Parts: sequence; structure tokens; C-alpha cells
Amino acid sequence: MSTGIIIHGAAGHMGSEVARLIEKGCRGCDVAAKVDINGGERYLTSVREYVGDADVIVDFSFHTAVGALLDCAIEKNLPVVIATTGHTEAEKALIRAAAERIPVFYSANMSVGVALLCELAVKTASVFPDADIEIVETHHNRKVDAPSGTALMIAEALSSARGGAPVVRGRDGASKRERGEIGISAVRRGDIVGIHEVYVSTETQTITLKHEAHSRSLFAEGAIAAAEFIKNKPAGLYGMQDMIGG
Ligand SMILES: NC(=O)c1ccc[n+]([C@@H]2O[C@H](COP(=O)([O-])OP(=O)(O)OC[C@H]3O[C@@H](n4cnc5c(N)ncnc54)[C@H](O)[C@@H]3O)[C@@H](O)[C@H]2O)c1
Repeated sequence: MSTGIIIHGAAGHMGSEVARLIEKGCRGCDVAAKVDINGGERYLTSVREYVGDADVIVDFSFHTAVGALLDCAIEKNLPVVIATTGHTEAEKALIRAAAERIPVFYSANMSVGVALLCELAVKTASVFPDADIEIVETHHNRKVDAPSGTALMIAEALSSARGGAPVVRGRDGASKRERGEIGISAVRRGDIVGIHEVYVSTETQTITLKHEAHSRSLFAEGAIAAAEFIKNKPAGLYGMQDMIGG
């Protein structure tokens, strides 16, 4: 049976990519409704306005929208895939609370490949507990934030697995690296969609893990896969590691 998806933030870059993939037949899903506060008359302005059938909400909107979105999802008893990033600690607490009542899939990076990179990085770091770990992320020259949410996500996974605080390296810093620290550097150039590299170096060898996104549609693809993954799950908080079985 096909999965009916309500796209929240449907007029934006990622929301319209989700719609385009579904309309092309991705995983046999259907667009149940398009919701966007700035979309014009072809869009609903809230999930609450939708009265038809649906299986999952996919959210690529803005972090401040999450409270109202989760209220609607709980009211309608619908699972939600939250692909939006930049949530405050208070908003993250709302996400955790909602996950006690409905299935919520939350990931700062919807790429299955990045989830695998993260898992391989943690595995590699556990085999080489004394290695120096450096994360280098590269993005297009228009990206506002640095380091990327994905680099932080990888650093947090490494840090909770082996300890050591993530340290963001600036271009003007000249201090020596401390033992056990997890370095993060950001590079901005050209039109690069996103490259994440993890270097694990001992005195005698380096292991390099690298993921390169070729197109933003991989995040839309991942969000649709996540929608299918959570549609019949019990309430709870799910992430990419659950989907890839890590
Ligand atoms: N998790 C991932 O893999 C991943 C990948 C790409 C982008 N993102 C994140 O997804 C979000 C959207 O990215 P984008 O590039 O599509 O941005 P965008 O600005 O192009 O689109 C966001 C859309 O959300 C709409 N919107 C804002 N507030 C809303 C609300 N309260 N209700 C309904 N609609 C609302 C806006 O009108 C806009 O059309 C960002 O947070 C971005 O960082 C996540």
C-alpha cells in the first residue's frame, strides 16, 4: 500500500524536491497535501487544515515551526519525519516529548550514506582509541553556518563513543591540538553540495573516510525512505542509525 505524505515546507527547496521525487514515482508514495506558510493558494498553511487520509508528515521548513507542527501531528496521530535543522534546546525537548506519543524520525542529515560514514567513523575510532580525529567539511560559498550540522553530528557521535570534546578550528587559530580532541574544520568554495571527511591518524597510519553528496535530492530521497520506515512504528524517537540497522 502506498504511503501518503503531507509535505510541510512544501514550497521550499527541499519540500519541492520531495514533491518532485514522489510525483516521479519514488517508492510508490503519494503527496497527500502540501503545506507552506509562504506558498500561495496551492498550499495549505497548516497541517491542521488537511482533512483527508495521510500516513506521515515530512518536514523541511524552519526550526521555529516545530512546536505547532508536533501539536497537529499528535492531534491527528500521524508520524513525523523532521528533516529541518537548527532547533534550539527547548525545541529539541518538544521533539523528545512528542516522541513519547507518536513516532518521530529526526536527523540533521537525511543521507543514508552519511549515516554509514558516521557509523564507520565511530567503529574506526574505537579500534584506534588514541588516534587524532579531524573532521573536514566542505560546502558551497553561499552557506551561512559553519561548521555544518552534519560535521557536528559526526563529532557528537565520536565524542559520545570515545570521549574528547569537539573543537572547531578557526582560520586564525594557532594553538597546538590537544590529545583526544576531535577537530572540525570548515571549507567554503564553489558550488559544492557537501563533502564530509573524517581523518583518523596514529603515528604510523591514517584512515580517511569520505562522503560526497552529488545532489541535494539525496536528502529528499532519504526523507521519503524515513517516512516509509516510521509509518507503522510505535511511538518513539528514531534516527538514521535505526534505519540502517546500526
Ligand atoms: N536533514 C537534512 O538532511 C537536510 C537537508 C537539507 C536541508 N535541511 C534543512 O531543511 C530546512 C529547509 O531547507 P530548505 O533549503 O528547503 O529551505 P527553504 O527556505 O527553501 O524552505 C523552507 C520552506 O518552509 C516554509 N516554512 C517556514 N516556516 C513554516 C511554517 N511555520 N509552516 C509551514 N511552512 C513553513 C517556508 O515558507 C519555505 O517555503 C532547513 O532547516 C535546512 O537546514 C535538512
